[in-house]
Amino acid sequence: MNFIKTEIQGLAFVIQISRPDALNALNQDVMGELRQCLQEACQKAEVAGIIITGEGEKAFVAGADIKELAVLSGSEAKKLAQKGQDLFKSLETCTKPVIAVVNGFALGGGCELAMACHIRIATENSKFGQPEVNLGIIPGYGGTQRLPQLVGRAKALELILTADLIPASEALKIGLVNHVVPTKQEALDMAHGMLKKIASKGPVAIAKSIEAVNAGYGFEAKGYESEASNFGICADTNDFKEGTKAFVEKRPAKFSGK
Ligand code: COA
Repeated sequence: MNFIKTEIQGLAFVIQISRPDALNALNQDVMGELRQCLQEACQKAEVAGIIITGEGEKAFVAGADIKELAVLSGSEAKKLAQKGQDLFKSLETCTKPVIAVVNGFALGGGCELAMACHIRIATENSKFGQPEVNLGIIPGYGGTQRLPQLVGRAKALELILTADLIPASEALKIGLVNHVVPTKQEALDMAHGMLKKIASKGPVAIAKSIEAVNAGYGFEAKGYESEASNFGICADTNDFKEGTKAFVEKRPAKFSGK
C-alpha cells in the first residue's frame, strides 16, 4: 500500500488515506488500495466496524484526481465513474458499520466517499461540496444520488449547480453530517465510542439493519447509470478540457458551452 495506512485499533479497522501532497485526492491507485483494504476489513472477524479518515488536518479527500481525470476520453471517464460507483457501493453495503471521520476538505469524490459511509463525524474546520461543475463535469461517484438522499433534492441541486463549499456547521444543519466536534482526535474518539456501542448489540441485527436501510435506496434505479453516462459525456467536451487546464494553471475557467 502506497497511499493508504491501515491499523486495527481496539474494535475498529482504521483506514487513513495518505496522499497529503495532493490533499488526499483519489487517483486510481488510491481507489485500488481502498478496495483491497475494505475487503480485508470486512473479512476480519475481530473487527466490529471501519473508520475512514484522511491524513493531516487540511483534507479528508479533495476529490477525484483532477490531473488524472483531465487526460481521459469520454468512454474512459464513464468506466472510471462506474468503478468509483462500485467501490462506494461496496462501502455502503458493507455489513459492518463504516464511519467517516472528516477532517478538512471533503470535496467532489471526497464528499461522495463520506456520503457512502453509514455515519459522518466532522471537525469544525471541515468543508463540504460537489464543485465538479467548476471543471465542466458532474459528480461521478454517486454524488448525484446520495446527496439528495441525505439533504433533499432542492439543497442537493443548489450545492451541485453552484459548486458552493459549505462549512461543517451548515453540513450539520442540512443533515449531511451526523456530528461536528472541534478536533480530529475528538472525532476519532467519538467514532471509536460509537463502534464500541454498536459492537455490544447483536451482530446479525446490525448487519440486517444496514441491509434493510440500503434496500430503500436501490441501485437498480437509473440514477447511477445516468450519472456515469453523463460524466462520460461531459469528459468529452472542450469545457472539461478548459476546466481541468484552468485548475492546473490556478485560474478561473472560461467555458464556451461546447
Ligand atoms: N486532484 C489533484 N490534485 C489536487 C486536487 C485534486 N482533486 N486537489 C488539490 N490538489 C493538489 C493541487 O493541485 C496542489 O498541488 P500542487 O502543489 O502540485 O500545485 C495541492 O493539491 C494543494 O492544493 P492547492 O489547490 O494548492 O491548495 P489550496 O489550499 O489553495 O486549495 C482546495 C484547496 C481544496 C480548495 C483546492 O485544492 C481545490 O479546489 N481542489 C479541487 C477540488 C475539486 O474540484 N474536487 C473535485 C474534483 S472532481
